[in-house]
Amino acid sequence: MKRIAIITGASSGIGEEFTRQICAKYDYDEIWIIARREEKLRQLADQLNAAKGRQLVRPVVMDVAGKAGVESLKAFIENEGKAQGELEIGLLINNAGFGTYGPFAETSINRQMDMVELNCTTVTGICGIALPYLKAGSVVINTASLAAFLPLGNFAVYGASKSYVLSFSIALAAELRDKRIKVCALCPGSVSTEFANVASNGARKEVKGGFPPQKVVAQCLKRAFKGKTVALYRPKWRVTAFMSRFVGRYLGARYTYKYNPRPRTPDTDLG
Ligand SMILES: NC(=O)c1ccc[n+]([C@@H]2O[C@H](COP(=O)([O-])OP(=O)(O)OC[C@H]3O[C@@H](n4cnc5c(N)ncnc54)[C@H](OP(=O)(O)O)[C@@H]3O)[C@@H](O)[C@H]2O)c1
Repeated sequence: MKRIAIITGASSGIGEEFTRQICAKYDYDEIWIIARREEKLRQLADQLNAAKGRQLVRPVVMDVAGKAGVESLKAFIENEGKAQGELEIGLLINNAGFGTYGPFAETSINRQMDMVELNCTTVTGICGIALPYLKAGSVVINTASLAAFLPLGNFAVYGASKSYVLSFSIALAAELRDKRIKVCALCPGSVSTEFANVASNGARKEVKGGFPPQKVVAQCLKRAFKGKTVALYRPKWRVTAFMSRFVGRYLGARYTYKYNPRPRTPDTDLG
């Protein structure tokens, strides 16, 4: 039986770093890396395969957003099963996601709904279609965020979408424990990736106060394989997550709305 690792959102940032570390430190027959930008995926796969001396990393160019995206991945896995024989998903990393900076009323509603589709529907759907391929010892990592712990002004839908990912992941961990399948929610604060550029429509190129992804990803992999349900790398992220229990939810949202503006090139179409 072939053991596969699947990483969504692998063409940049945290997903790219997951790919590099899994390729270097873990043992799978194939690593499928998924995103929409073919060139970026191919470059990463070529570089890692050349270093390994074999075709380990396989680029899968796919838009995984929403029900249609989940269906595409389901069909891909089924076809591979027919072509290659029985498959086991040893590691599944649901990492593709994006945010939008700025007040809800000033952001395209279509963009907000697309975000919920990718950040919530896709994570739910991919976990569902992966279930038959997860065996005892398999690990699932869902990328949530530190933003999952408190409602945030100027980040309203994003924070809510990541609260969903955190809550869902912990409940799934509880349900799959008896099958010895581990589920972990990665909850990073600011990490240096392309996130801010996407979230701000290009108004902010770099994530403010961004931390390099290497240690964040390494600690997450360690915790996930140990069966921990949440990965928070930096002490200040752990303190923030803990303290959020004592801050009123409305107060947190109102304060961040007033005092933590997030720049955004205005959407041309608010529909
Ligand atoms: N950076 C941070 O500060 C931070 C903090 C907390 C949580 N996070 C979370 O970390 C995850 C990774 O983000 P990142 O920070 O690494 O940002 P990033 O560099 O922008 O990476 C996002 C990844 O998602 C992929 N993606 C976006 N839409 C997709 C779609 N429809 N189908 C397939 N792939 C898609 C992108 O690839 P393509 O564009 O090629 O499709 C890219 O590989 C996200 O879930 C994000 O919410 C980030």
